[in-house]
Amino acid sequence: MKLTPAEQRERDRGHMVRCLELAARHRGRTSPNPIVGCVIVDRRGEVIAEGAHVGPGKDHAERAALKKLDDQAKGSTLYVNLEPCNHHGRTPPCAPFVRASGVARVVIGAMDPIPGHSGGAALLKKAKIAVTTGVLREACERANLPFFTWARHQRPAFTLKAAVTLDGKIATVAGDAKWITGPAAREDVMRLRNGHDAVLVGVGTVLADDPRLTARLRGGRDPIRIVLDRELRTPTTAALLPGARGPRTIIVAAETASSAREAALVAKGAEVWRGLDLPALAQRLGGLGLTSVLVEGGGEVHASFLEARLADQLVLYIAPKIVGGPAKSWVGGVGLAALVDAYGLVFDEETAFIGGDLRVTLSVPGRDSR
Ligand SMILES: NC(=O)c1ccc[n+]([C@@H]2O[C@H](COP(=O)([O-])OP(=O)(O)OC[C@H]3O[C@@H](n4cnc5c(N)ncnc54)[C@H](OP(=O)(O)O)[C@@H]3O)[C@@H](O)[C@H]2O)c1
Repeated sequence: MKLTPAEQRERDRGHMVRCLELAARHRGRTSPNPIVGCVIVDRRGEVIAEGAHVGPGKDHAERAALKKLDDQAKGSTLYVNLEPCNHHGRTPPCAPFVRASGVARVVIGAMDPIPGHSGGAALLKKAKIAVTTGVLREACERANLPFFTWARHQRPAFTLKAAVTLDGKIATVAGDAKWITGPAAREDVMRLRNGHDAVLVGVGTVLADDPRLTARLRGGRDPIRIVLDRELRTPTTAALLPGARGPRTIIVAAETASSAREAALVAKGAEVWRGLDLPALAQRLGGLGLTSVLVEGGGEVHASFLEARLADQLVLYIAPKIVGGPAKSWVGGVGLAALVDAYGLVFDEETAFIGGDLRVTLSVPGRDSR
């Protein structure tokens, strides 16, 4: 049955949503590569194969899906949230493989931001394959914010996360911070950590809360831990020090910090990086192939990321509680004098109730198109 153009667009969007679902299962596992899902649909509109990219060196999503088919791919439509690559990296290029499979139509979400890798869509068009681009483009680019940020700026995307009261506080005036949000929100944070390459905090948070910063959920993988600590005040008993076999912990200190403190922390398994301001740290992390860092506060660290214009996204868990007074807010620093200078953000559509708390996600406008 022939679909109307409106019906076809609706169907295309539905399959692209599925590509994003397949891709999202591997969030935090593919760096420095993007998360990609692929769906193949036959002439009758039936899904005949699905695939996803599971990590560097592994099949790209299109190849993973096409490998499940033999001749059936002929005449089918292939959906993918990122343009098939046309570049020989750890794996051979996907676009020629797609071309050889006999698919009749390819539907693409976002275009590849790396100039040397793009050209897949053009190659397919040249082979007389029908190509539709830009289906759910914004959602596809947002899903791969880490990859787009890394590809364009050679640094990870930074997501600021805080659990706050309705009046924006991250602790009471007495410093009581456990717990602002409920168990469901705290579990959600574990999923967030699991989906990031690294988690970063200031030494103020280490001294106040002694967090482990691990992803404590089934099948979870602990992110790299990073502490901003100019004078190496992190106690040698801190729970985030890896010991003999914990996840990697990097402490970012001033050039002038004590060598004896460094030796004591290194003996507990930490690495110490010296003399890096935030932009230099961002570049160094990008050089390691890290594409996503979750910044978990506290207020001074969040303020520094905003001031350095390095915050790409925010996730706030808002509890229906008010503590009032001069307690710390989730953004410290000296503050701005004029409202026109305020950091402008936009709410994403993903606002959700998590238990009794509200999770809001915001992004910095124009971030992924600079
Ligand atoms: N509710 C939540 O989601 C949440 C999350 C985290 C923390 N908290 C609460 O927040 C409080 C701690 O926050 P905080 O603002 O006092 O401390 P913080 O932001 O965790 O750490 C600030 C310290 O980090 C060091 N630092 C190094 N480089 C920095 C940079 N570029 N920018 C900013 N700081 C840098 C500074 O100490 P040096 O100069 O010595 O290096 C600074 O004093 C605690 O009460 C904790 O319970 C709440």
